[in-house]
Amino acid sequence: MLLKSFNDEGNLAYLLVDTKTGHAILVDPVKERVDDLVKLIKKNNYKVDYVIDSHSHADHFSGAGLIRDALGCKVVMGRATVEQRKFDTDLGKKFGIEDILSFNVKIQVDKYVRHGETLTYGEKTVTFYETPGHTLNSISFLSDRYLFTGDSLMIGQTGRLDLPGGSPSDMFKTLHSVLKPLADESVILCPAHDYDHNASRLLKDEIAENEFYKPQTEAEFVEFTSGFFPPLKLDDMGGVSRIQCGASGGQEKLEQGIFNILPAELEAKLKTDDSSWMVIDVREPYELLSGKITQAVNIPLSEIEGRLTEIPKNKRIAVVCQSGGRSSRVSNYLAQNGWTTVYNMTGGMMMWQMNYLPIQK
Ligand SMILES: [Fe+2]
Repeated sequence: MLLKSFNDEGNLAYLLVDTKTGHAILVDPVKERVDDLVKLIKKNNYKVDYVIDSHSHADHFSGAGLIRDALGCKVVMGRATVEQRKFDTDLGKKFGIEDILSFNVKIQVDKYVRHGETLTYGEKTVTFYETPGHTLNSISFLSDRYLFTGDSLMIGQTGRLDLPGGSPSDMFKTLHSVLKPLADESVILCPAHDYDHNASRLLKDEIAENEFYKPQTEAEFVEFTSGFFPPLKLDDMGGVSRIQCGASGGQEKLEQGIFNILPAELEAKLKTDDSSWMVIDVREPYELLSGKITQAVNIPLSEIEGRLTEIPKNKRIAVVCQSGGRSSRVSNYLAQNGWTTVYNMTGGMMMWQMNYLPIQK
């Protein structure tokens, strides 16, 4: 499967393609990027079957309806969307975002999905889970190793819980009863927002470290979350009032200087500006024979301690291994030893090659 992510002012959209057949799905496209996405999809002859909105968005205009009109695909949302849309009207009046909500609420939904339901695109399957908490109609979905969580679980936080349709009690159940059981050795979390340069990581690592997983009872969780998000305030952006679905900054990982980056994102950054980056491949030399990132310097995990002088502190350091495990350990080690911008490449070279990104042999 080919996975591409698109970041528009912190809103993350994803394109998933079954490379064997060209069938695809689009996740959470923003309205402003629809033309670019349609051009990219047509240029590559992808056949988009579904465009999925993970929930009713209150912070941006959804591009799902326009994508359907342009490509003839179906709009998919959670079954609680009808109920959620009743709340949305009140929210619009209260926070001055009627224009966003009245636009999104008019998008016709072609397929409402339930917990456990599956859809196919080409030879790939996507399985849906109802994950309320941020909104009543929030859904998460799994395809291959990727879990798309919308604003249910983000890196370092969850979506805010005080919007209409939101519920700390629902979120507690979502986190522990729905998402946690999905965390095996390989599932990668892909949230709908990236406010702090943390776009993806292994789900099990996020669950181990995310503060929202620390409270072990619902009562403790409600108390913890009540003070977490700053009060909603209006922010005028070019004449359009906006709210933000999560908190910015303040994440432990950000303070430590460790970020997570998808292979496709790293490749895009290296393409535009590779002079401010150093890519360290921490695999053993024989493992690089199957292919490496062109710019990568090989410093095996076992040699890192003795070769720290080769790693500049004034560059962004991207650490890469085969699947993301060793690079995560080295990223932590570098951050503990004074490197301030360290990027752990999620999914390692395995995912880099699954995404058909360029390699040097
Ligand atoms: Fe949201």
